[in-house]
Amino acid sequence: MRILSGIQPSGALHLGNYFGMMKPAIELQEQGEAFYFIANYHSMTSLFDAAERRRNTREVALDFLACGLDPAKALLFRQSDVPEVTELCWILSTVTPMGLLERCHSYKDKLAHGVSPYHGLFAYPVLMAADILIYDSNLVPVGRDQKQHVEVTRDIAIKFNEAYGQTFVVPEPGIRNETAAVPGCDGQKMSKSYGNTIEIFGEEKAQRKKIMSLVMDSRSPQEPKPDADKNLAVQLLKLVAPPAVSADHEERLRAGGLGYGDLKKALFEHYWNYFAAARARRAELAANPDYVEKVLRDSANQADAVGRKVLDRARAACGLD
Ligand code: TRP
Repeated sequence: MRILSGIQPSGALHLGNYFGMMKPAIELQEQGEAFYFIANYHSMTSLFDAAERRRNTREVALDFLACGLDPAKALLFRQSDVPEVTELCWILSTVTPMGLLERCHSYKDKLAHGVSPYHGLFAYPVLMAADILIYDSNLVPVGRDQKQHVEVTRDIAIKFNEAYGQTFVVPEPGIRNETAAVPGCDGQKMSKSYGNTIEIFGEEKAQRKKIMSLVMDSRSPQEPKPDADKNLAVQLLKLVAPPAVSADHEERLRAGGLGYGDLKKALFEHYWNYFAAARARRAELAANPDYVEKVLRDSANQADAVGRKVLDRARAACGLD
C-alpha cells in the first residue's frame, strides 16, 4: 500500500497540524510505503517571500523528523524536487471541469475571507490531484478540511481514466474521526489563518501565555459544570495527557471545585511534557542541517523514480509520447 500526504510550509506547525495530520501520518509509516512531502509549490498561493518559504520548508522537515518520521521507513521530500508534478498538473487540468473547482469549500472560504482569487489558488486542487496520482497512492491521510480535495482527486482520476483508458489509481482519503478537528484558543478550528494556534515547538513563555488566556466563561470554580466535556481546555488536555488524567480533570470540573486557572496550568504542563522528547530531538537535528538535507534529497530521488514512471504512463495514455 502506498500512503501519501503533504503539508504546506506556511509557518510554525501547531497542534491542529500535529493531531489532524502529522501524528496519523507518522503512525502509518509502519503500515505501508509512506511518501510525505513539503508542499512548497502550494505555499506559493499564500506566501510571497522566497526566504521565508525556504526557511519554513526547512522547519517543517525538522518538525516531521523530530516528531518521529523515520527516514528508513518513510520518504520526506520537497514537492518541488519532483517537478514532474507540474506537468501532470497541466495534463489533469484538461480533464477537470470548472464546476468541480468552483464547488471547493476551501477556495470559497478563502474568497470569503478577502483573499484575491488568483488562478493558482483556484487550481490548487488540481496540483494536489497531481501530487497524489503521480505516486499511484492508495491512501491519503489528511485532516477533515482536505477531504473534499481528495474527493476532487478521485473525480479527476476517474475522468482521465474514462477519457484515455485505465491510467491512475483512484485513492481513498484517510480521516481519523477522533482528532480530525482540533479546537484553537478561541474555540474555532485551530488554524494559522485564524491566529488561534498553539505551536508544537513554540517558545515556552509564549505558548504558556496562549494556554493561560484560553477563553473560558465567568462561572466560579465551585459551581458544578455539567458541560465539562465541552470545555476547551479539557478537549485539549485529552489530546496531550494520559486518559486517566484528562478524565479526572473533566470529572472535577463537572462536580465543581476545579478552577479554570488550575485546569489551564495542568494543560500547559502536559502539553509541554508531551513534546519534551521531540523538542530535544529537534534541537539535535537543527544542529545537523547536512543530515536533514540528505534525507530530503535521498527521498526526492526515490519519489522521483516512481513519479517519472507514472508521468510517462500518463503521457503515453494521452498521446504525448
Ligand atoms: N492541501 C494540503 C494542506 O494544506 C497540503 C497538500 C498538498 C496535500 N498536496 C497534497 C495533502 C496532497 C495531501 C495530498 O493541508
